[in-house]
Amino acid sequence: MNITVVGTGYVGLVSGTCLAEIGHSVTCVDIDEDKIKRLEKGEIPIFEPGLDALVLSNVRVGRLKFTTSLPDVIDKTDVIVIAVGTPSRPDGHADLQYVYAVAEQIGQNLKKYTAIVNKSTVPVGTGKEVEDIIRKNYSGEFSVVSCPEFLREGSAVEDFMKPDRVVIGARDDRAAQVLLEVFKGIRGEKLVTTVESAELIKYASNAFLATKISFINEIAQICERAGADIEEVAYGIGLDSRIGPRFLKAGIGWGGSCFPKDVEALDQMAGMYGYDFKLLSAVIEVNNDQRKHFVAKVMEHFEGKLTGKKIAILGLAFKGNTDDIRESAAVDIVRMFAENGADVSAFDYEATKNAQRALEGVAVRYAEDPYDCVNGADVVVIATEWPQFIELDWAKVARLVANPVIFDGRNLFQPERMREHGLTYISIGRNGEFGDQKS
Ligand SMILES: NC(=O)c1ccc[n+]([C@@H]2O[C@H](COP(=O)([O-])OP(=O)(O)OC[C@H]3O[C@@H](n4cnc5c(N)ncnc54)[C@H](O)[C@@H]3O)[C@@H](O)[C@H]2O)c1
Repeated sequence: MNITVVGTGYVGLVSGTCLAEIGHSVTCVDIDEDKIKRLEKGEIPIFEPGLDALVLSNVRVGRLKFTTSLPDVIDKTDVIVIAVGTPSRPDGHADLQYVYAVAEQIGQNLKKYTAIVNKSTVPVGTGKEVEDIIRKNYSGEFSVVSCPEFLREGSAVEDFMKPDRVVIGARDDRAAQVLLEVFKGIRGEKLVTTVESAELIKYASNAFLATKISFINEIAQICERAGADIEEVAYGIGLDSRIGPRFLKAGIGWGGSCFPKDVEALDQMAGMYGYDFKLLSAVIEVNNDQRKHFVAKVMEHFEGKLTGKKIAILGLAFKGNTDDIRESAAVDIVRMFAENGADVSAFDYEATKNAQRALEGVAVRYAEDPYDCVNGADVVVIATEWPQFIELDWAKVARLVANPVIFDGRNLFQPERMREHGLTYISIGRNGEFGDQKS
């Protein structure tokens, strides 16, 4: 099939590339000329494991192309996938201006039946709005389908190719059949629903996962006060097949391009429908507090005075295996430490450039490597769960730092392992009054 993907960001580029990989002829469109130029030269603008090889091989065989002009390709396409950003507005609602702009452009240029697939995460009712916008300028046949994306940055290709499910929210059978054909080469259950259900499934999924994390972070607070170990507690809870072990990792909380804006948007959407989503408001509050608690813990270590204290932050990305720093808890705590007068150094494997832009004006020394980052530090903070941090030579870290104190915001280690290196190891939910983790 001929597929056009509009918006060539994390979702658009991965979706377009994977759809080409399963045999479709795909054109990825973006208004960012620089991005398209780089892609045409074979440069991949984001870090996503496995993506570069897949883009290059599909470009080579002619199944994947890039352009800045949707009108140029629209009449050759069977399916248009909208994958533009839907960031938060200041009031928490999803900002749909980019989706509306694409819908407008589609309406002005459509000439034949086409399935318009909304892959961007959008509030319930957006499918209908997109339909209305297109119909203003085009009176022929078309279908608007909601097909939310569940991929995770860091494992996006794998997630797209082997999803737990593909949700297809269609108003008519013709559109559902087109989408079933699009995803024929993808494993995973195909679930056909109404457009509105599909739109809500995406928000409800993210909100549920965020709730699990905020829940375990609250349990971690109890652990610290009661002398229990959150890792043992989470493992014990997760063994219950009704609950499952995933998203029960205590830490400095969730961030990223999706959870914060989607949870907020669902909360706002509920309000619009006259419903006060009490649980979700608490989930957001707990998450915001989690970063502050962590910074407060470090401040307490320095008896409230961070001025001149050397704090080395390992990790800037919102999670491991990505260069994305949107709503990153790590970036937030760098800012908080710097604002409190600390002398901050930071290191990340892929996200440094993006973090530098986000932290413009904030005094941070960006280190070349993790050892350079921790050199002379009074405290080392682990802020992102990069797997490489687990493999660091921690005996070397212990030799390089001025004071051997680690605050682990991601609970990456068994406390004993760090103690063996002579490090004082303080993590989340494992350092209670009665805990044995203090060295
Ligand atoms: N990033 C994720 O992990 C993820 C996962 C699932 C769902 N989503 C959802 O997918 C959507 C896209 O997210 P993303 O992270 O890929 O965003 P992104 O910001 O990385 O990419 C969006 C792209 O759309 C382009 N764009 C904007 N307006 C355009 C237009 N009129 N025509 C062509 N291109 C245009 C931008 O230039 C940008 O390159 C969002 O709704 C998001 O919530 C994201």
